[in-house]
Parts: sequence; C-alpha cells; structure tokens
Amino acid sequence: MGENVRKLLSNRLIIATHNDGKIKEINELVRPYRIAATSAGELGLDDPEETGKTFAENAAIKAHAAAGASGLPALADDSGLAVAALDGAPGIYSARWAGDPRDFGAAMAKVKQALQNAGADDFSAKFVCVLCLAWPDGHEEFFTGEVHGTLSFPPRGDQGFGYDPILVPDGFEETFAEMTSAEKRALSHRARAFDKFRTACLPPL
Ligand code: IMP
Repeated sequence: MGENVRKLLSNRLIIATHNDGKIKEINELVRPYRIAATSAGELGLDDPEETGKTFAENAAIKAHAAAGASGLPALADDSGLAVAALDGAPGIYSARWAGDPRDFGAAMAKVKQALQNAGADDFSAKFVCVLCLAWPDGHEEFFTGEVHGTLSFPPRGDQGFGYDPILVPDGFEETFAEMTSAEKRALSHRARAFDKFRTACLPPL
C-alpha cells in the first residue's frame, strides 16, 4: 500500500462475495460508517472463477468483477485457513476443500486426516484475510489481516462459519465457533484487515 491511498468518498459499496458468513461479518464491520453495503448476490452479479495463486490475486479478481459490473467501488475478501505443518494448506483452497456443495464437517475432517498423514505434532495454524477494494476505473487497494492459533479436534461450537469450530486463537480456550460475533470481531483476521482499510480509506467516525 503506497502513500497515495485512494479514499472511499461515496457511501455506497458492493461487498463482492456470495458467502453468507462473510457478508454478515463485513456488514457488522461497515455498519458504524453508515455505508450502504450491497452484496454481489443481491445485485445478481456472478461469482467469478478464482483462478489466482494467492489470496490477493483472488480478492482482486472478485473486487474488479463486482466494481466493473456495478459501476461502484467493491470490497472483496479472500481468506482461508493456513496450517503450518501442511505448508500453509488448505490456504487459497479452503473453500474448495469443502467440496461442492460445501461441507465444512468434511473439510475439517480432511484437515485432521492430513495432519495424521503428515505425522504432525505441531497444530499451529492461522486464518488469513486479504481485502481488495477496487474502483470501476481499475484502481485497487489491498489490506491484510491474520490471526494465529492452534487447531483443536473434534470441532466445537456452532457460531461463525467455515473452519471456525477447529481454530482456537492464541490466548483463548474457545474456538471461534464458541465465541459471539462481537468476540470474534475483536480479534479476527477479517477485522484486522478491515481495520487497515478503515484507517486508510474511511473518514474518522
Ligand atoms: P473464499 O471465498 O475463497 O475466500 O473462501 C474462504 C474460505 O476460507 C471460507 O469458505 C472458509 O472455509 C474459510 N474461512 C475464511 N474466513 C474464515 C473465518 O472467519 N472462519 C472460518 N473459516 C474461514
């Protein structure tokens, strides 16, 4: 991110995702800023194919597709679970490990199995989030957040989404899925990336 970060001047923003868990969390984050956030799904925009090799590339694909189709600035999130003993897998493939239709019970079992296959005793992992804010003229800004923790099996809790039931953030005993949305918002990778976006692009409250 350079010195000349472009500010978000309009109060209309497209949330470039079809993931209900992300929409809920991003809506909670933008709410205090009186931003009228519309999801890509509400606008009937297609979910583009994620052909990138990094979180940033995939976030950019989604943000530019939504900004181009809507004529409005669009914020996209690409995120996932990176397990140290699995060289960062599932990483950008986190959603795809859940198959189609998505089954995160199966995806979490797959993570456990992969750790067993690797003979791993290091269960450290992190959630990573890259936000891309793209404008219809092609301008883009990126913001990254991470939260480190330890994987715990069996999965616990029914809040949140995705891999939340198996990640216990450092300094806590509960998984993210056992926390309220406000507790998760205080420390999540998405909230940390959003904090950078807010500081760079939004007017102070
Ligand atoms: P994406 O839509 O390709 O970015 O998929 C990201 C995937 O990573 C989601 O479907 C979840 O499986 C996982 N993920 C991202 N953020 C979180 C989170 O906050 N909690 C749990 N899983 C997450």
